Amino acid sequence: MKTVVILGAQWGDEGKGKIVHLLSDRADVVCRYQGGNNAGHTVVSGGKKWVFHLLPSGILKEKKACIIGNGVVLDPYAFSEEMTLVQNEGVDTASRLYVSDRAHLIMPYHRALDSMYEESLGIGTTKRGIGPAYSYKYARIGIRLCDLDEREYLEWITKRALDEVNATIVGKYGRNPVTVREVMDALEEYGEIMKGYVTDTSRLLAEYLKEGRRIIFEGAQGVLLDVDFGTYPYVTSSNPVTGGVLTGLGIGPGAVGQVLGVVKAYTTRVGEGPFPTELEGPTGESIRERGCEFGASTGRPRRCGWFDAVAVRYAVRVSGVQALAMTKFDVLDGIDRLPVCTGYRIDGRDTDRFPANVFVLERAVPVYEEFAGWESTAGVKRYEDLPAEATRYIAALEKLIGVPISIVSTGPDETETIIRGPLAVDAG
Ligand code: IMP
Repeated sequence: MKTVVILGAQWGDEGKGKIVHLLSDRADVVCRYQGGNNAGHTVVSGGKKWVFHLLPSGILKEKKACIIGNGVVLDPYAFSEEMTLVQNEGVDTASRLYVSDRAHLIMPYHRALDSMYEESLGIGTTKRGIGPAYSYKYARIGIRLCDLDEREYLEWITKRALDEVNATIVGKYGRNPVTVREVMDALEEYGEIMKGYVTDTSRLLAEYLKEGRRIIFEGAQGVLLDVDFGTYPYVTSSNPVTGGVLTGLGIGPGAVGQVLGVVKAYTTRVGEGPFPTELEGPTGESIRERGCEFGASTGRPRRCGWFDAVAVRYAVRVSGVQALAMTKFDVLDGIDRLPVCTGYRIDGRDTDRFPANVFVLERAVPVYEEFAGWESTAGVKRYEDLPAEATRYIAALEKLIGVPISIVSTGPDETETIIRGPLAVDAG
C-alpha cells in the first residue's frame, strides 16, 4: 500500500507540518483524521511561513486532493479564514478539498464552554471548543455537516443540545441562555461557508485506494496527548494514534501502508501536565529561543526538555510506528553534552515503562545517558555530511527506541532535510 500515516510521537508540535508538506510532493492525497483547529502545523515554502490549524498541510501543493475526515471536529469560521488566506495568496483550491459529511461541527457554545471548563479544570486547552465538541458527539447531541440542509432535523437536535448547554451555561456558570434562534442563524452561516465541500469522504477514499493512489494520513497533536494513551486528563479529546486513522476516515487496516512517527530531537509540551525531562533553567530557555518554541496556535511559550526515549518508545508501540522523522535537529547545535532519558526512577524503583497515571508520572525522575554534542548541522542535506557526534546521537536513539530514523530535518525549509528512506509513498 502506497500510504503513510504521519503522526506526532511526543506531545504535539513535532514538526509534522513540514514533513507532510515535504512528502506531499510524492503523494496524491493528504487527509486529516482527528482533532480540529487546535492544531498548528507550520510549513515554510518558497521563503514564506504558513501555519495551518485545520486544513491538511498538503493544501499548498496544487493538484493534490485534501480530505478532512469524519474524525475531525470542524469550525466553519476557522475553515473559512484559512481558505481565504490560502486563496488570497493565489493557491488554487478548486475541486480538491473534501470534507466528510459525518464530521461534527464546533458550535459557538462549544467554544464558550471550553473557556468555562478551562477555568476550573486547568488543562491548558487551546479554547477552540475541541473538547466540548467531542463530548457532545459522544453524548449524541452533536451536529454534523450532513445535517446542515435538514432544517427540521437541525431544530430537533439543536433543542436537545441546548437543554444540556443551558443547564451548564446558565445553571453552573450563571450566564445568559443560548437560544434556538441564535444557533439556527449560526447554522445557516455554516451551511453557506461549507457549500460545495461536503461529501462522503470514506467512499471517495475507497476509490482512491482502489486506484492505488499515494495517500498521506496526517495526524494532529501527538500520541502523548491522545485521549486513550496520553497523559490523561492532560490530553486532547481525540485519537492521534494510528487507530484514529481508521475510525477518523472510515477505512480498513489494510489501507495503512507505513506508520511514520515525527519527533523533535528534544522534547516540548504546551499546556499543563507532567513532563519528566523538562528543563526549567537557562538551558530550557535557550532551546526555546533557538527552536522558536512558541505555540503556533496560541503563541504560548512551549515547555522544553531533553529527549525522552521512554516516552517515545511507548508512543512508537501504541501507534505501531515503523520509522521516525526527527525534526529540529539543528536546534541542538553547539550544546556540549546531550542527556537522553533512558529510564525513570519512580518511588525508588527503576523502570523503562511509561506510567498510565499522571501522579505517578509526576514522581518520575529521569535516568539520563549523556552524549557528546556537535558544532553544526544546520541545513545539512546528506547523512554523510553530518558530524560524527550527530550520527552517533541518531544511532543511539534508534537503538533505544527500536525503529530507524528515516528522515532528519536540519532547518525549517523543506530543502533542509535528509531523507534516508525507505518510504511507502515512494513504492513503485
Ligand atoms: P485542546 O486540544 O484544545 O482541548 O487542548 C488539550 C491539550 O492539548 C492542551 O494541553 C493543549 O495545549 C494541547 N494541544 C492541543 N493541540 C495541540 C497541538 O497542536 N500541539 C500541541 N499541543 C496541543
